[in-house]
Amino acid sequence: MSFEQRKVIVENVKGVDEVIAQETLDYVPNLLKIKPDYVLHGDDWKTGVQASTRARILEVMKEWGGKVIDIPYTKGISSTKLNSILKEVGTTPEIRSYRLKRLLDSKDLVVISEAHNGLCGLIVENTFVEQNGKKIEFDGIWISSLTQSAACARPDIGYLDTTSRMAALNDILEVTTKPIIYDGDNGGPVEHFVFTVKTLERLGVSAVIIEDKIGLKKNSLFGNQVVQNQDNIEDFCKKIIAGKHAQITQNFMIIARIESLILEKGMDDAILRAKAYLDAGADGIMIHSRKETFDEVKQFCKLYNQLPNRKPLVVVPSSYCDVYEKELIENGVNIVIYANHLLRSAYPAMVNTAKSILENHRSKEASDKYCMKIKDIITLIPGAK
Ligand code: SPV
Ligand code: MG
Repeated sequence: MSFEQRKVIVENVKGVDEVIAQETLDYVPNLLKIKPDYVLHGDDWKTGVQASTRARILEVMKEWGGKVIDIPYTKGISSTKLNSILKEVGTTPEIRSYRLKRLLDSKDLVVISEAHNGLCGLIVENTFVEQNGKKIEFDGIWISSLTQSAACARPDIGYLDTTSRMAALNDILEVTTKPIIYDGDNGGPVEHFVFTVKTLERLGVSAVIIEDKIGLKKNSLFGNQVVQNQDNIEDFCKKIIAGKHAQITQNFMIIARIESLILEKGMDDAILRAKAYLDAGADGIMIHSRKETFDEVKQFCKLYNQLPNRKPLVVVPSSYCDVYEKELIENGVNIVIYANHLLRSAYPAMVNTAKSILENHRSKEASDKYCMKIKDIITLIPGAK
């Protein structure tokens, strides 16, 4: 929830007279302003990282004889359980679409994984690991044209029409609550793009990324091995402007993807385009590269971060996969998309299973070595029993 939403809720709690925003993690500036008689806080702050904050408050409150009261923390409330209840309740298009902007405001780096069908959507929605007592999970979902096409055994040349892509998207929407970024290829003709924007917005998608290419679409990672043409700046800006006019809410984002590095047009061209696309109203920029190290994108980041109208920056480290998220954060990247890894790992796993059955003339070896238990697959999806 946004601050404004939380404010409305707290203001409506019986006994609350006023809600005052605290702009920093430090309580002291507000305390000095209000000089309250009491500060109440859950007693979980007596230990751990918050203990020093508490000590500072005790010190300041002494100045006017105020008291700090630690309320015993309610036992048996598990955030994991709350989260799973929330997930069961589901979401609405409006709540979902707003979540990307909210995450961009509150996180150093928004971490996105592709999903190409409902089952894969469930994986991105529910998979997490724990590191240093923190739950780590994906923040949102990328609807990749490459993996959606590959899952339908079609080349990534824009052959899947919007209607078929929306059908797969709908399966993902059905079982997830996380925000969604849609790979819009080059957006098609302006006249089509305005319809796509309206459809995505209606479904609760948070953002569309369109690339500045024209003509028959080819996957960017081919680079100049295939014929791919970049749009001219003026026409691509017209597409961005038309898309921005078509959207209804403030939540939806149109992110412009620059292909200058992919097509070896140089860094100056990439930056020139970034400026122009932002001026045209793009809500963010995606810079793509097929180099095997982060250096090229890093150089772009340096220049991009100096732009006065800088907006969120998206990267897709498929070829420079050795870059750590920490380095992306240090270079000002706001969104990272792991664009194809779930499909790329599923395919060899299935090929191994297929080979094992063929080699052994039975399925026991594959079942034991490569497959989840039958009991697990039949109960995997809630509501199957
Ligand atoms: C996709 O995932 O479809 C993308 C990223 O557009 S890339 O395949 O690298 O072009
Ligand atoms: Mg794509």
